[in-house]
Amino acid sequence: MKKKRFGAWLCTIILATMLFGCSASTKTGNDPVNTPDDTSDQPDTAADSKADDTQANDTEGGGKKIAISMPTQSVQRWIDDSENMKKELEAKGYEVEIQFAGDNPQQQAAQIQSFVEQKVDCMVVVPIDSKELTAVAEDAKNADIPVISYDRLLMDTDAVYYYASFDNKGVGTLIGKTIAQKAGLDDLADGEYKTIEFFMGCPDDNNSHRIYDGLMEVMQPYLDDGRLVCKSGRTSFEDTCISRWSQETAKEWCKNYLAGYYTDEELDICATAFDGFAYGCKEALQEAGYIADNWPIISGQDCEAVACRNILDGTQTFSVYKDTRVLAQKCVTMIDSVVAETEPEINDTEQYHNHVLTVPAYLCNPDVVDKDNLKEALIDSGYYTQEQIEQAE
Ligand code: BGC
Repeated sequence: MKKKRFGAWLCTIILATMLFGCSASTKTGNDPVNTPDDTSDQPDTAADSKADDTQANDTEGGGKKIAISMPTQSVQRWIDDSENMKKELEAKGYEVEIQFAGDNPQQQAAQIQSFVEQKVDCMVVVPIDSKELTAVAEDAKNADIPVISYDRLLMDTDAVYYYASFDNKGVGTLIGKTIAQKAGLDDLADGEYKTIEFFMGCPDDNNSHRIYDGLMEVMQPYLDDGRLVCKSGRTSFEDTCISRWSQETAKEWCKNYLAGYYTDEELDICATAFDGFAYGCKEALQEAGYIADNWPIISGQDCEAVACRNILDGTQTFSVYKDTRVLAQKCVTMIDSVVAETEPEINDTEQYHNHVLTVPAYLCNPDVVDKDNLKEALIDSGYYTQEQIEQAE
């Protein structure tokens, strides 16, 4: 990596401070990187990624190229995350290229390989399946290209410099505590119980394991003492993880559980780790004839606009809110640092061991959003407009 002059570095800090003061208010959920009807997970056009070139060359990014490797466009947050980063980076004068890999690990490896060949100045990666990326990560390291792991930790490599994410175990703990509170588990009389089924994340994603651990830390005592009953018996991570975070699989599983185990008593809780799973459960429950009166507690993660609409109409109970604007900002500060060869702000140096090294991380805090705080947390804060939620589909 080339050295930067001190003057340019100072400019970075000053401009970053100015930009950060005013950048947090724009949510770009309805402004995807590619056209909304483009489901091909293709990269931006060169013209797009070089937008505002004139401004770019005058500022501290100095035209350095940042490559962003995203898992898929079929989950809204990855579009939002990359768009948020791109905006901030371009305002700082970086050139940005984003690639989405259609949830295909081999495609992601090929895209990263091409970033290495282009000799980009820094790479941001949200791994689909780290096992497929160890070789290209090594290539990036050999080419002296710093890699920042974004939201999901890149495992089994020493090529990763930093990790920007949310407290993933905390996400699971929040889901567990909120379920316990909303189901009144601590107030059940002797012999009373609630039924529950679990829908956990993709096993190739390190986050899924963390979320499960956090959730089970809260749920296991209730399962042990009988206040929670999982009639399918599927409570282990292996039995509840859903490959590629598939909404369809969650629906299928929920349908099967309802038909197989809940014909003589109702399912009270769908403990899910993702809004997409909550939509799958919602459809299965509706098809099985559940109505408002016997609607279960359903959790989610991401506060997608559709989830928010469902929370407001009562078909999802709550979701975990992770402000992608904040995460994108944190990642941009990491990019600035690695490019300038300085130390970024880190708040965790212990939790995220990727089987090779403990990756220095900045972990943002997740929050719970339900119908009572949704307006304040998401609309008043400018994350969504009322219309984005009402019109979400
Ligand atoms: C992210 C979640 C996201 C999920 C599915 C996870 O790694 O942390 O925010 O919902 O992937 O894309």
